Amino acid sequence: MNIDDKKWEILCSEEDIKQKTNELGNLITEDYQDKNLYVISLLRGSFIFCADLVRAIDLKLNINFMISSSYGDGLQTSGKVTINKDVEEDLTDYDVLLVDDIADSGLTLKHVMEHLKTKNPKSLKSCVLLNKPSRRLTDLEPDYCGFTIPDAFVVGYGLNYGDHYRNIPYVFIVTEEDRDRQEN
Ligand code: IMP
Ligand code: MG
Repeated sequence: MNIDDKKWEILCSEEDIKQKTNELGNLITEDYQDKNLYVISLLRGSFIFCADLVRAIDLKLNINFMISSSYGDGLQTSGKVTINKDVEEDLTDYDVLLVDDIADSGLTLKHVMEHLKTKNPKSLKSCVLLNKPSRRLTDLEPDYCGFTIPDAFVVGYGLNYGDHYRNIPYVFIVTEEDRDRQEN
């Protein structure tokens, strides 16, 4: 794969993402008018989405970061979610919104939400850019969701394949053909 190779199958264009992020930002702005918003971005996948989302939210807010991992280098979840960096701050006065790139099996979101619940925030909700409900292995549904997508491995706008492609400004599908080209 090359960064200029436009043969990739684009699922969400830069324009689609911009529009959707603004819609989500407006919705969150309305919903959190009288609240004390504390955004937690789950790294690394959500760093670009969250940076755009917070700029579309017209409220005073706090932002912090957590790191979790479940995937390794493969295309499937390992099923085991680890928190590598936690939020140390007291969250009891805050309305926490956890932001991630994608809900796939849902195991990451469920694990991190349950962990955050033990910190007794005033309220706790989740927001993802992409939702793949066909792959869900838990009962957790994100509270805010950008795009519901089919069962495909998607990359770009923060989402990685192997070590790369997080910096591509749109979301595209990694096809068998792309994988063969990368391996060859
Ligand atoms: P989960 O299966 O919902 O726990 O997803 C865990 C993490 O896997 C997500 O936060 C993403 O970082 C990553 N992931 C899931 N599906 C994809 C995909 O299609 N492309 C790239 N990363 C993905
Ligand atoms: Mg990832």
